[in-house]
Amino acid sequence: MGYENDNRGSYRSYGGGDRNRFGRDDRNSGYGNNNNNYGNNDNSNGFRGNRGSFSREDRELGSGLQKQNWDMAQLPKFEKNFYKEDPAVTNRTDSEIQQFRQDNEMTIEGHDIPRPITTFKEAGFPDYVLKEVLAEGFEKPTGIQCQGWPMALSGRDMVGIAATGSGKTLSYCLPAIVHINAQPLLKPGDGPIVLVLAPTRELAVQIQKECSKFGKTSRIRNTCVYGGVPRGQQIRDLARGVEICIATPGRLLDMLESGKTNLRRVTYLVLDEADRMLDMGFEPQIRKIVDQIRPDRQTLMWSATWPKSVQGLVRDYLNDYIQVNIGSLELSASHNIKQIVDVVTDFEKRDKIAKYVETEMKDENSKIIIFASTKRNCDELTSYLRSEGWPALAIHGDKEQRERDWVLQEFRSGKSPIMVATDVAARGIDVKGVTCVINFDMPTNIEDYVHRIGRTGRAGATGTAITLFTRSNDNQAHDLIVILREANQEVSPELQALDKKQFRGGNGGRGGRGGRWGGRGGRGGNRGGNRGFGGGNRSGSNNAPLGSRRF
Ligand SMILES: Nc1ncnc2c1ncn2[C@@H]1O[C@H](COP(=O)(O)OP(=O)(O)OP(=O)(O)O)[C@@H](O)[C@H]1O
Ligand SMILES: [Mg+2]
Repeated sequence: MGYENDNRGSYRSYGGGDRNRFGRDDRNSGYGNNNNNYGNNDNSNGFRGNRGSFSREDRELGSGLQKQNWDMAQLPKFEKNFYKEDPAVTNRTDSEIQQFRQDNEMTIEGHDIPRPITTFKEAGFPDYVLKEVLAEGFEKPTGIQCQGWPMALSGRDMVGIAATGSGKTLSYCLPAIVHINAQPLLKPGDGPIVLVLAPTRELAVQIQKECSKFGKTSRIRNTCVYGGVPRGQQIRDLARGVEICIATPGRLLDMLESGKTNLRRVTYLVLDEADRMLDMGFEPQIRKIVDQIRPDRQTLMWSATWPKSVQGLVRDYLNDYIQVNIGSLELSASHNIKQIVDVVTDFEKRDKIAKYVETEMKDENSKIIIFASTKRNCDELTSYLRSEGWPALAIHGDKEQRERDWVLQEFRSGKSPIMVATDVAARGIDVKGVTCVINFDMPTNIEDYVHRIGRTGRAGATGTAITLFTRSNDNQAHDLIVILREANQEVSPELQALDKKQFRGGNGGRGGRGGRWGGRGGRGGNRGGNRGFGGGNRSGSNNAPLGSRRF
């Protein structure tokens, strides 16, 4: 079904693709009632670093999957190296290349790493892909794209680390399109060729939009597979055949176990936010998924942070890999963000947030994301801000998917310029025009600080991050100061005084990642709620009465 012209022997050509084979273009997965099979697809459900709180379903998820026996001799051969160096790149001298890497703060690791390109044209993408990129109005490729594209196109396993908002999505999306166009056509019953794994539903949907935008000229179909929505539409998409599947791990395992798809055709595997995907919350699921994929696949991992705790793990997933880091090799934040850390008491937090919101909202074009550590804090803060007249909306893991989508849409469009979030919105989310990120609570994990504040200052824009830091956060003071200094930001004497490591000499190293998410936060009575208010999607705090409007 859906295969208008199933042409078994033919290959998509690198140059043009076969544009006429499929009756349907990409489509979005349908949304509907809540069907929250697995609550483990976002950062706000409280089990990271706390193995004890895995639910029964979580532990059993994927346990029905058969371990695959890969007989390499039997597996169909596939092509993964598509890289042809542009003559302009070949003609550069070694010292020119070295200078370019130095100017762009590129550090590379591994052998036989292709040279960086410096223009979109040099990447050698087919014209129909290039046209889409130029249509976006981008001036030039970002650093990670300059080095990441040749690496990804050459078929090597790779790790790409670059600041938040530096264009990593396109770094793996465009080579994915080239990869697909050179593979044999999908046959009925085939699963996807490209699998992109991401930690949250919102991020998966956002990646899907990029894939749709750049894949449409070659009629590449995709689907997004994530929990919290009915499975029907996703199952139908998978059954019709999609070249790209973007998924959160829980729902994908569910689909695999129930035989709705398979990963035998996957030859290009992407882990976006790879350090998050490999930390304790997701790694067992990732392992089960990867076990279903042929070992000679190409695997690509991307993130803005690359803690030591995951570096040792990657050898289980990557083969003879190459790596590029743009910017500091240590944990660092985007330099386009002005970072302010305000040392306060818990008691002062509300007044402070009111003051910062008021100042920031003086500019009517402002958009603010406020991060709180728990769903309850998120709800309380939203109700409080609304009572003060600010049109804030909350997004977190206890909200139904429909409401989460709606809140993000209201925020994207600027209709509701203040979004209060848990870490469900910390990673990857790309909203144009976010001028300010406020950490109402300091995150308990320092990498999350980098990701959260990275929701502003993206794609060359600048932004401000304000963090309310209390004495109880003093364990984080040292790591935070290191990040501030690296980005030439001011360190106040009050923050400096909380640095317990400063007199110990040396850096003392960063602690392990365990122990976060001590408490789960209350559920706050968000479900059900009074619906039919506004967009028909509001619940709990999002329905809290708005005081006399200030905006
Ligand atoms: N070459 C480019 N020039 C200008 N803007 C670009 C370029 N490439 C991508 N962008 C834009 O930059 C923004 C950020 O890109 P993207 O979301 O891929 O960042 P990221 O590196 O994945 O960040 P994060 O670490 O937060 O996930 C997007 O809006 C994207 O369209
Ligand atoms: Mg990203």
